[in-house]
Amino acid sequence: MSTNEGGEKLKMHIDPTEKAWIRAAIVVLVIFAISVTIAGFMLGIQVPTEEQRVDPQTITQELPWSEPGVREIIPGEKYDVYLISRMWFFEPNTIPAPDSTIAIPAGAEVTFYVTSIDVQHGFKIQNTNVNFMAVPGEVSKLSTTFDEPGSYDYICTEYCGVGHASMFGTINITE
Ligand code: CUA
Repeated sequence: MSTNEGGEKLKMHIDPTEKAWIRAAIVVLVIFAISVTIAGFMLGIQVPTEEQRVDPQTITQELPWSEPGVREIIPGEKYDVYLISRMWFFEPNTIPAPDSTIAIPAGAEVTFYVTSIDVQHGFKIQNTNVNFMAVPGEVSKLSTTFDEPGSYDYICTEYCGVGHASMFGTINITE
């Protein structure tokens, strides 16, 4: 910015070093905005968002939430899991249920639909990047693929009261 004797009175004086830092801060903000845009829209990395609004008071009265658990969409390839979190357990706490005829094989795409019917809970599957919140009134959705067979534990990651530590379950993935 050019200054002269007359102009200087009208312009706010900003130290050149400060100016440089202001520019640097703006550049960093722009870089972050671009990174987030690329990650979100080009690479498809999305924070699990609200899939649907629901009424936590009545959600369990209707399908699919009246029968939470696994649905086989395409055998061997695609599965949906409906999971209710509540004080202080997950419904179901074993996926697939022990008496279920459905098995989820490694490599299949598994989509989790998770909600809460009381307070805010968390849902994290150990040793995976599946980790999101279960908020009353909202359904969170996230798809993942388990590459290795085995059992994967899931836990509540939001402190939700005295029974918080007892909120866990297991997903069994077959060959
Ligand atoms: Cu549910 Cu902590």
